[in-house]
Amino acid sequence: MLLIRIRCPLQKLLLLFLSIMATNPATAESMGHGGDEAALLAFKAKISRHSGVLGSWNQSTSYCSWGGVTCGRRHRWRVVALDLSSQGLDGTISPAIGNLTFLRSLNLSFNGLQGEIPPSIGSLRRLRRLDLGVNILTSVIPSNISRCISLRVMRIYSNKGVQGSIPAEISNMPSLSYLALANNSMTGTTPSSLGNLSRLTVLSLAVNYLEGSIPAGIGNNPHLSFIQLSINNLSGLVPPSLYNLSSLYLLSVAYNKLHGRLPSDLGKSLPSIQDIGIGNNRFTGALPLSLTNLSTLQIAKSYNNEEEWKFVDSLTNCSSLQMLKLGWNRFAGKLPSSLANLSTNLLWLRLPSNHISGVIPSEIGNLASLQRLDLTDNLLSGVIPESIGKLTRLDELLLYMNSFSGVIPSSIGNLTDLTILNAYGNRLEGKIPPSIGNLTKLSALHLSINNLTGFIPNEIMELSSVSMILDLSHNLLEGPVPLGVGNLVNLELLMLSGNKLSGKIPDTIGSCRVMEILLMDDNSLQGSIPATLKDIKGLIQLNVSQQTEWKHPW
Ligand SMILES: *[C@@H]1O[C@H](CO)[C@@H](O)[C@H](O)[C@H]1NC(C)=O
Ligand SMILES: *[C@@H]1O[C@H](CO)[C@@H](O)[C@H](O)[C@H]1NC(C)=O
Ligand SMILES: *[C@@H]1O[C@H](CO)[C@@H](O)[C@H](O)[C@H]1NC(C)=O
Ligand SMILES: *[C@@H]1O[C@H](CO)[C@@H](O)[C@H](O)[C@H]1NC(C)=O
Ligand SMILES: *[C@@H]1O[C@H](CO)[C@@H](O)[C@H](O)[C@H]1NC(C)=O
Ligand SMILES: *[C@@H]1O[C@H](CO)[C@@H](O)[C@H](O)[C@H]1NC(C)=O
Ligand SMILES: *[C@@H]1O[C@H](CO)[C@@H](O)[C@H](O)[C@H]1NC(C)=O
Ligand SMILES: *[C@@H]1O[C@H](CO)[C@@H](O)[C@H](O)[C@H]1NC(C)=O
Ligand SMILES: *[C@@H]1O[C@H](CO)[C@@H](O)[C@H](O)[C@H]1NC(C)=O
Ligand SMILES: *[C@@H]1O[C@H](CO)[C@@H](O)[C@H](O)[C@H]1NC(C)=O
Ligand SMILES: *[C@@H]1O[C@H](CO)[C@@H](O)[C@H](O)[C@H]1NC(C)=O
Ligand SMILES: *[C@@H]1O[C@H](CO)[C@@H](O)[C@H](O)[C@H]1NC(C)=O
Repeated sequence: MLLIRIRCPLQKLLLLFLSIMATNPATAESMGHGGDEAALLAFKAKISRHSGVLGSWNQSTSYCSWGGVTCGRRHRWRVVALDLSSQGLDGTISPAIGNLTFLRSLNLSFNGLQGEIPPSIGSLRRLRRLDLGVNILTSVIPSNISRCISLRVMRIYSNKGVQGSIPAEISNMPSLSYLALANNSMTGTTPSSLGNLSRLTVLSLAVNYLEGSIPAGIGNNPHLSFIQLSINNLSGLVPPSLYNLSSLYLLSVAYNKLHGRLPSDLGKSLPSIQDIGIGNNRFTGALPLSLTNLSTLQIAKSYNNEEEWKFVDSLTNCSSLQMLKLGWNRFAGKLPSSLANLSTNLLWLRLPSNHISGVIPSEIGNLASLQRLDLTDNLLSGVIPESIGKLTRLDELLLYMNSFSGVIPSSIGNLTDLTILNAYGNRLEGKIPPSIGNLTKLSALHLSINNLTGFIPNEIMELSSVSMILDLSHNLLEGPVPLGVGNLVNLELLMLSGNKLSGKIPDTIGSCRVMEILLMDDNSLQGSIPATLKDIKGLIQLNVSQQTEWKHPW
């Protein structure tokens, strides 16, 4: 073994130490370090507009105290961090940025920076964190960036003008653990060299124009926990190595042209998986059954075969499932009653636009956390179960375009967080429950094209929260338009056409000041059009035609 002893008198060491401690701006500049000030001023010179932060960037104070600038502790006159995120910066990034060679963190995200990412950025060998996200940069990612050998976090996302391919040289940055290039206009293939980034934990390349296959090597990075490749043009198979990542909690490859079978033991091979998005591809075969720790399962436009529902039974073991989204498939067959046994943590259950038949299980009320229930556009029938009133967290209840029948349960008045209730296009009958008047957060109520009878409950007309639409058209409703209609002070669309409403249009309607469309045609209303309508300044469409009494007054 070779042993090197450094012999150095203690006094000399002490002197050296003291002289470092005593470094002042003047000596730093004389040593050439003051170039950081010139680089910052050159950066400022390319900024055409800012929210005010650069106002402090003048030579009356030390540049280390300028807004967004941090100097080092050891290298006290070297800029180590520049954070100008969300400072309303317009302009371009000066190549002088490459002179801030002690920079460890550069954050220019959420601004209006244009033009190119200067290749001189490659001079920042100490840079660990780079964030250029959400700007309007229009260049390629310079291959020079790979010279930033200390880089751990690279975020260049949501710059629709950032184009070209992902430089293969990126893999030369051995510490890179976070790579976010999503929502740009990147083309070409995914470089297989990404498989060399052994520290990589987050890989986000979604919403680009990437094509070709997913390189198998990516699965060799053992720490990967987040892979988002959705909305590209990727084709081929999902490499098996991707199903072998014990830390992976999110895998999204939705909206590509991938094909092949998903392994049936996905849950075992991906023990940490919580969120999986595979929709809009060309996958075949059964859905994986063993996804116990899943919180989100999203499959859309993916399954063309008439899929069995037994996978729902298996999902009842997923106690952390929060999102189940299976819309726009051709799922057929009866809605399984096991649906009511899904996780009580389920927040979203969305099954729109399938061919699902059967009834809503009467125990649906078990899903106590549910916020969104969307069963739109299926072949469902039977009644809306009374127990729906237990889903008191529901925010959206979408049941339209099915064949539900029977009366609307009055327990619906229990859903006091509901903002949208849409059940148009069914065969609902009986009276509209007055309890709907308790839904004081409701902004849209659609019950048109059903067989609802009786009077319009005045309680509904008192819901001043209803702002978007109140549509009761094409039912068998009778009696007068309630006087309370004047309480709909925030309503833009009121549709009562195609009923058997009678009596006068109440003068109170003039209080609906923001109304834009008022349709009351095809009823049995009488009398004159209320003069108060002139108070509704923004009215675009008014239809009171075809009143049976008016058509045949003689
Ligand atoms: C950046 O550094 C180069 C090389 O040291 C020098 O020529 C140039 O003037 C510097 N630019 C600024 C703005 O400081
Ligand atoms: C220079 O910066 C200081 C704050 O550091 C500010 O108060 C002053 O107004 C600035 N001067 C000019 C001329 O912009
Ligand atoms: C790439 O970076 C190196 C080192 O900083 C620099 O010398 C070179 O000019 C850069 N290349 C381009 C095209 O700017
Ligand atoms: C940059 O700043 C934004 C906003 O403050 C922050 O959300 C983001 O995490 C920062 N980026 C990095 C890489 O630290
Ligand atoms: C994508 O980027 C554009 C432009 O920066 C932005 O407007 C949009 O919100 C981004 N989309 C997402 C999903 O982040
Ligand atoms: C990086 O990946 C490429 C392609 O997979 C490979 O040829 C190369 O040897 C790797 N380099 C290193 C340093 O691991
Ligand atoms: C995918 O490729 C097709 C044709 O090659 C093209 O029309 C389409 O815009 C591409 N889509 C994306 C998201 O890149
Ligand atoms: C999955 O991982 C195991 C153990 O790390 C390894 O032996 C096997 O080859 C891997 N399979 C794939 C397809 O990468
Ligand atoms: C589910 O996740 C927990 C920790 O989040 C883990 O301990 C457990 O092993 C996982 N379950 C399965 C079946 O992998
Ligand atoms: C109404 O909600 C309460 C809890 O807020 C619940 O106990 C009750 O059972 C619900 N009623 C119906 C009819 O669902
Ligand atoms: C309403 O009831 C009538 C008579 O039972 C039936 O013919 C019609 O199809 C029903 N309409 C709707 C929308 O359910
Ligand atoms: C509205 O709720 C209150 C209290 O929660 C209840 O007493 C009342 O009967 C409900 N109104 C209707 C019309 O159901």
